[in-house]
Amino acid sequence: MAKKLNLNIEIVTYDNIDELSKEDQELLRLAEEATFKSYAPYSNFNVGAALILENGQIVTGNNQENAAYPSGMCAERSAIYWAGGQYPDQKILTMAIAARKGEEQSFIPISPCGACRQAMLEYEVKQDSPIRLLMKGQKDIYEMQSVSDLLPFKFTQKDLFE
Ligand code: THU
Repeated sequence: MAKKLNLNIEIVTYDNIDELSKEDQELLRLAEEATFKSYAPYSNFNVGAALILENGQIVTGNNQENAAYPSGMCAERSAIYWAGGQYPDQKILTMAIAARKGEEQSFIPISPCGACRQAMLEYEVKQDSPIRLLMKGQKDIYEMQSVSDLLPFKFTQKDLFE
């Protein structure tokens, strides 16, 4: 007998940035700032990410495109791979993400692409604690408590080894 399995995810939205802590506000500001250093001559879509580690260190990243399109890299993975390489033992607490189209100054709400979700999930599993997400929209800010929420029904190392 077929059964339906419903998975619930929780997204909290804020319509005023002042509702967030000063630390979160700063992380979002740094993600926005990172969009201005992105290298996106082909898509003209500038994405920035900023993450904070448990030691307070902040790492930022942005999308880096390539004439051979698939060789480019998203902002989220640029940031998280850098953090993983430089601070392998530091847990990632929160990642903030912002995006902008070319010359436009206003920010577009985006949610990480599928490949980034999988890459981010790897670090969440590795550190065995949730990575919180903040996504900046034009007006609203979206908050999720973990990457697992972004990627329910996930594939992880458990599937390989258990
Ligand atoms: N991009 C990101 O950096 N992060 C995302 O979550 C979605 C897409 C980049 C990839 C490419 O450089 C550009 O945005 C357009 O897809």
